[in-house]
Amino acid sequence: MKVIIPVAGVGTRLRPHTITQPKVLLNVAGHPMIYYIVDELIRKKIADSIIFITGHQGEKIEHYLNSTFNFRFDYVKQRETLGLGHAVLCAKGKFDPIKKEDVLIILGDTLFDVNLKDMVKSRYSVIGVKKVDDPRRFGVVEKDKKGFIKRLVEKPASKEVSPSSDAIVGIYLLKNSTLLFDSIEHIIRNKITTKGEYQLTDALEIMLRQNEKMVSYNVHGWLDCGKPETLLQTNRYLLGKKSNDYKIKGSKINKPVYIGKNVTLENCIIGPNATINDGCLIRNSIVDNSIIDNNCHIENAVVTDSLVGRNSKIIKKRLNLNLGEFSEI
Ligand code: UTP
Repeated sequence: MKVIIPVAGVGTRLRPHTITQPKVLLNVAGHPMIYYIVDELIRKKIADSIIFITGHQGEKIEHYLNSTFNFRFDYVKQRETLGLGHAVLCAKGKFDPIKKEDVLIILGDTLFDVNLKDMVKSRYSVIGVKKVDDPRRFGVVEKDKKGFIKRLVEKPASKEVSPSSDAIVGIYLLKNSTLLFDSIEHIIRNKITTKGEYQLTDALEIMLRQNEKMVSYNVHGWLDCGKPETLLQTNRYLLGKKSNDYKIKGSKINKPVYIGKNVTLENCIIGPNATINDGCLIRNSIVDNSIIDNNCHIENAVVTDSLVGRNSKIIKKRLNLNLGEFSEI
């Protein structure tokens, strides 16, 4: 199966980190977030080919993927970030219009704890959904009595008017790539935008009107990585699943944590829910519920609920922060 992973976005909500690193290379529980998606697709033999739609700092993503995985990836540039629908259309040249191929689309900044093998077996197109308490921030699906999706509603005004609480989470199996690309071209030709962007949801709505049969698939483990607080939540979730055991003399480790290579810890309390990446030096400090990226130096400090970019230095501070690379405090 061909998989499209759009990773061209600028990642404004994760600034300052995304000024120096593309969002999908930000570390969560010891690996860049994109690692988990690609590893699963290759390990479970779901993908025959993976097409990345790149843009902002795309060369760094290419370099990371090519040097980490032994797999043939395709990269297509999205020259302007005009929306997810537009990003997906960039992959059109990689598909045979006669064959009407299956295509799996996964957002590059969202991890899923889901049985992908089971999901891709479907006879019909599938939209991954998760039940949410407040559907106002999401696109939601409306289904008929037989369970087929009949309408997609973008950001319903209230819970009461929302046709369901099934929010669209960013994983799609579409059984007819030709109809998909035609539908995206239709919205672009007719300048159909939502929030100023060519949205995939609007193109899917066109597909439904062309009688494409779609069902929903419940994705219980939906791990958004798009904002600092959700990145830390995802970090907690992944650490909880891995539950590595570390014993470091002179320091107390409260599980779950991840500690990378060449890390020096002296007289520290680390965790719970802390990721300490390669090459960090931490002395006389407490670090919990945080992601500390490579080669940071932390001394006489308390760091909690924080994202700290590579090569940063924090000395004598009590902090809860969102700190980009090469900073000094
Ligand atoms: P987001 O809507 O989260 O956008 O896109 P973003 O730029 O990454 O982040 P913010 O909103 O500025 O903080 C979801 C996924 O779709 C990709 C993004 O790279 C991300 O993986 N995307 C989005 C594109 O590839 N191209 C687009 O035009 C829009």
